[in-house]
Amino acid sequence: MSDTETNKTFTLTNDETGEKYTLPVLEGSEGPPVVDIRKLYAETGHFTFDPSFTATGSCKSRLTFIDGEKGILMHRGYSIEDLASKSSFMEVAYLLLYGDLPNKAQKDKFEHDITYHTMVHEQINFFYRGFRRDAHPMAIMCGVMGGLSAFYHDSLDIYDPEQREISAHRLIAKVATLAAMTHKYTLGQPFMYPRNDLSFAENFLYMTFAVPAEPYKVNPVLASAMDKIFILHADHEQNASTSTVRLAGSSQANPFACIAAGIASLWGPSHGGANQAVLEMLDEIGSKDNIPEYLERAKDKDDPFRLMGFGHRVYKNFDPRANVLKKACDEVLDDLGIDDPRLELAMELERIALEDPYFVDRKLFPNVDFYSGIILKAMGFPTSMFTVLFALARTVGWVSQWKEMIEEPALRIGRPRQLYTGPKSRPYVDLDDRK
Ligand code: CMC
Repeated sequence: MSDTETNKTFTLTNDETGEKYTLPVLEGSEGPPVVDIRKLYAETGHFTFDPSFTATGSCKSRLTFIDGEKGILMHRGYSIEDLASKSSFMEVAYLLLYGDLPNKAQKDKFEHDITYHTMVHEQINFFYRGFRRDAHPMAIMCGVMGGLSAFYHDSLDIYDPEQREISAHRLIAKVATLAAMTHKYTLGQPFMYPRNDLSFAENFLYMTFAVPAEPYKVNPVLASAMDKIFILHADHEQNASTSTVRLAGSSQANPFACIAAGIASLWGPSHGGANQAVLEMLDEIGSKDNIPEYLERAKDKDDPFRLMGFGHRVYKNFDPRANVLKKACDEVLDDLGIDDPRLELAMELERIALEDPYFVDRKLFPNVDFYSGIILKAMGFPTSMFTVLFALARTVGWVSQWKEMIEEPALRIGRPRQLYTGPKSRPYVDLDDRK
């Protein structure tokens, strides 16, 4: 018996033939039981249909557990609240990659290994020049991340554990450098080389905000908030971008290409692009007086407008990341002495929406993106960089999920099937005979 098999079964009856099919039921360490349908087609000639994957488990994973009803998020058994308040992003990265929190020696070595890979090949600087300066930073990130596979040929063999490890370290280290370079490129400022005497978050802030002309001192409150934001975005189970990374990786594509695919998937406003969209929405709403009008639009099925930063496929109670971020947001605004009217507007929007039966009935609560935009703006990031920061942090989760999948002995290419609704077979019509 494997670690997930049970003696329980699930029986389906074919109403046409009366035949019964017994399917095995698997159980993980947490979460609902899973009906194993892997042999369903072979034994019954039927596919299952679940286009948005609302009831489909695509893999086994030991990394992250979410209980959406209770608002629980855990990495390797540790609650996100504990990790965000007691750990560092590098420790969480180690935890996701290797399964346990590091001891002191492991932590020092891991930080050294990541630091060692923060520089990018000098030729990459020229690669940036191919982009327009007004390109969206996520467009640049998709390109340069995919481009890394053309630079690091010595770590592309996914079946060599040592090369996998080096690629994982390179990705986690270099994505921060690439993100900062992307920001600098769009501003027209010189790239800042990484500084390995700084922590991961400090170094990122330095590469992003320092200029060669003057000294730059990292504000510890900002560094701590940055680290927390990275922790909160590090992994989130089998969401769209992570599933994209896994699907790309299942074809044995190299890890840099897989992470580029993840970045592309994250970009959309239903996923990572929501943090940018929240701020744009708050600016559009403009003042508290306009909130009722926008709430009505969000409820109107004929209007494409949605309340950005509200709702989640899995969380139907609250998003635990949003609670942590809300507190961090207060701390940063307080420290910087910023009185951002957008925060007040956001609070009022949240209050009114949470009293509105439309949002209450559908269990639509503020998600992580509702607050991250406000805090990132206060820290000095332009709106167009918000999703890049999400991608930077999520690279840890993508790489860990990719590594877990490649290390699975039964790895097979992912290949969903479909419910075909097009024309049935028909004879070819020559051009002259077509009406
Ligand atoms: N504003 C207005 N109505 C909404 C919203 C919203 N933000 N979200 C969901 N609904 C309605 C939706 O119209 C549907 O109503 P009905 O049952 O009457 O048809 C109901 O709530 C259920 O929504 P759904 O579209 O079936 O939910 P989903 O699981 O397919 O979509 C979502 C989840 C996150 C894409 C969606 O809630 C949304 O578009 N939210 C805004 C974008 C956003 O904030 N995304 C960030 C997600 S958190 C970060 C991350 O993990 O990427």
